[in-house]
Amino acid sequence: MSDLESLKSSLLDEIENASDEAAIEAVRVNALGKKGSISELLKTLGKMTPEERQTRGAAINALKNEIGDAIAAKKTVLKEAAINARLAAETVDVSLPVRQSPAEIGRIHPISQVTDEITAILADMGFSIAEGPDIETDYYNFTALNFPEGHPAREMHDTFFLPPDENGERKVLRTHTSPVQVRTMEAQKPPIRIAIPGKTYRQDSDATHSPMFHQVEGLVIDKMIHVGHLRWALEEFCKSFFEVDSVTMRFRPSYFPFTEPSFEVDIQCDRSGPIVKFGEGSDWMEILGCGMVNPNVLRYGGIDPDEYQGFAWGMGIDRLATLKYGMPDLRDYFNADVRWMNHYGFRPLDMPTLFGGLSF
Ligand code: DAH
Repeated sequence: MSDLESLKSSLLDEIENASDEAAIEAVRVNALGKKGSISELLKTLGKMTPEERQTRGAAINALKNEIGDAIAAKKTVLKEAAINARLAAETVDVSLPVRQSPAEIGRIHPISQVTDEITAILADMGFSIAEGPDIETDYYNFTALNFPEGHPAREMHDTFFLPPDENGERKVLRTHTSPVQVRTMEAQKPPIRIAIPGKTYRQDSDATHSPMFHQVEGLVIDKMIHVGHLRWALEEFCKSFFEVDSVTMRFRPSYFPFTEPSFEVDIQCDRSGPIVKFGEGSDWMEILGCGMVNPNVLRYGGIDPDEYQGFAWGMGIDRLATLKYGMPDLRDYFNADVRWMNHYGFRPLDMPTLFGGLSF
């Protein structure tokens, strides 16, 4: 076999065996590229005699054309194969159901959502968030809040008591978030502006009471604080929370050991339709308790009541959630029923903010 024939057969083998576009390109460069085997042969043409050029030269050119055609043909085949493979791999079956992204699966519980809404509003008004323990001492839950020993107000709270510890002390499951008021006063100097969301516990269970429920407490202590500040803060809060331009509130005299004077606050609403509407109507709905911090409580917290005054309020988060989102039975909140969660829950990435929207 002549050198040209053996070169041709080995190149044709390489072309035949090239399995993808990169491989066939490599064969092309090795044969027809600047320093390719055929290109090198072509360079010898210049030194040939005219006779040689007619025989061997023609043979080299024929080889060049034949190999060039074979490479081009193989390239076409491989290109088509590559496209077909891609089409097969990237097939989209448009008849399949849409797959939910992880961010779409699962729901935020309405209590978490409403707690986030409340804290977003209060944070915007300049409150910081404070927390305290669920298992509380009798001292912080009652005594430091001006409930005298043996006072009937302690009975009002249907307290869960824990078994006495080695010192005979009986801790309680906190009956309200108010104990965090005194804990904060002890830890921090006025001015104080805190919101305290958290779990609270009382022995009570029916459609509107659950043994574990949620409150958010507000506390402001500064110089020259008066009832006007309290009213303003609560009105601003309610307007933001219920997402209405104006609210009418009614302050009724009440009694709490830790405030003097004390009030229960009703908000004007319309209950004639299927959902309660705020800011209009002829009904009133009680939404919270509040008052000016009792001087005794300031003293328990180490604050001089002749220099500082404060106001405080406490409200039920579960009740606020019911009013805003219309879930009739409080017990459903804590039944862990996925169907209920899918209906009343909130989408995980819809974070409540005052600028982006409180509720969705
Ligand atoms: N702690 C009260 C309760 O659970 C609610 C409350 C009323 C809190 C008046 C306050 C307040 O801070 O000033 O019933």
